[in-house]
Amino acid sequence: MSSNGRGQWQSRFGFIAAAAGSAIGLGNIWRFPYITGVYGGGAFVLLYLIILLFFGIPILNSELLLGRKSQKNAVGAFRTLAPGTPWSIVGWMGVAAAFIILAFYSVVAGWAVAYIFKVGAYMAQGANHADLFVGHITSTAAPLIWHAVFMAMTIGIVMLGVEKGIERYSKSLMPVLVGIMIVLIVRSITLPGATAGLEFYLKPDFSKITGEAILAALGQVFFSLSLGMGCMITYGSYLSKKEDIPMNSIYIAGADTLIALLAGFAIFPAVFAFGMEPAAGPGLTFITVPAVFNAMGPVGIFFGILFFLLLTIAALTSAISLLEVVTAYFIDEAKWDRKKAAVIIGIIIFLLGIFPSLGYSVLSHVNIIGPRDILDSYDFLASNILLPLGGMLMAIFIGWFWGVDKAIEEANEGAGSYKLGSLYAFVIKYIAPIGIFIVFLNSIGILKF
Ligand code: PFF
Repeated sequence: MSSNGRGQWQSRFGFIAAAAGSAIGLGNIWRFPYITGVYGGGAFVLLYLIILLFFGIPILNSELLLGRKSQKNAVGAFRTLAPGTPWSIVGWMGVAAAFIILAFYSVVAGWAVAYIFKVGAYMAQGANHADLFVGHITSTAAPLIWHAVFMAMTIGIVMLGVEKGIERYSKSLMPVLVGIMIVLIVRSITLPGATAGLEFYLKPDFSKITGEAILAALGQVFFSLSLGMGCMITYGSYLSKKEDIPMNSIYIAGADTLIALLAGFAIFPAVFAFGMEPAAGPGLTFITVPAVFNAMGPVGIFFGILFFLLLTIAALTSAISLLEVVTAYFIDEAKWDRKKAAVIIGIIIFLLGIFPSLGYSVLSHVNIIGPRDILDSYDFLASNILLPLGGMLMAIFIGWFWGVDKAIEEANEGAGSYKLGSLYAFVIKYIAPIGIFIVFLNSIGILKF
């Protein structure tokens, strides 16, 4: 515990592991491949990487430094740095986004938990994996129960707190995850017909770059790096002045991007080899991965179970960061104790997740945003609207209100030879706010490209 009693990361590796644990999750292994498939493959990957460099990494630095400077949660950070101004609304938006994201995140994570137990039988049946997946999500009780199980695990860990809970559970996952991804990739790219998938994934077809694809890529970068909602502000608030923020940002973004890119290499070759549909949507990972492991013979079942176990743990380290954003707010501002905050908020989020969970069964006729089903609507509202909006406002806050010089000074305290400088200042003042604003104008139809 640090002197202010809020808790602090116990080691440098503990922080990187926890922040990377927040970033790496369903966003990399479930969402990245499926969104890449929907928006046409290679061109989307390129867009993703460009947005990562120009928007993702600078905003990741920004959130970490705001957290460390203020030593506060998402709302408290703005209250401390800009007292008496409406800037705390940005923190509030973040807390709202955390509620919405965790509600559907837990539902998808629940599918992964269910698959730990079901995938062996599914593979033994050797039936059509698309039908099996649809069968699972369209049943009423099972997805709801697994959603409850996943939320209960998340609440349990957040109750334990920063050092005992979050840090300990984040440490050893990554190397194992990379290992199993490599097994998947080797099997996937050696399937007959796999090269068409590599081509889809790596060769950009520039006609696929539409305004909608750009918004989707922006949303994916924010979602994947846990940005735009104060999660990295909250994690930064447990960071000591000795830590190197600019370098840590590179490590976190690098690890996150590596896992996402590996997931694509595992999925797309197999999708084409098996004659599946790359734009299949949210089921893509759940359908493709068991099919790839099936092609390995009996050991495949072992790997299949291990994969969904690891996916669940990866989802858990992200879910705890989502719950932590809201919990930290109630601990700091409303003076609730950690256990009470985690349980009450966790239950509310579980309830909010009942709707997307039933969205493929009894509520399958409900569409909220356009043709989107409930889960997709929650996701769109949070990831493509609230997160980029939050990121845009944070950039404006630093660039035009609080002061980019102060930000650079804070970030560079504890930094090694790689420091933030004029490029960061230019991106935060101009590129990020204007760029995100233009993407929004385009998506509401005011500007067309
Ligand atoms: N970054 C997580 C993932 O890729 O799965 C999801 C997430 C966690 C988003 C925390 C936002 C957040 F604040």
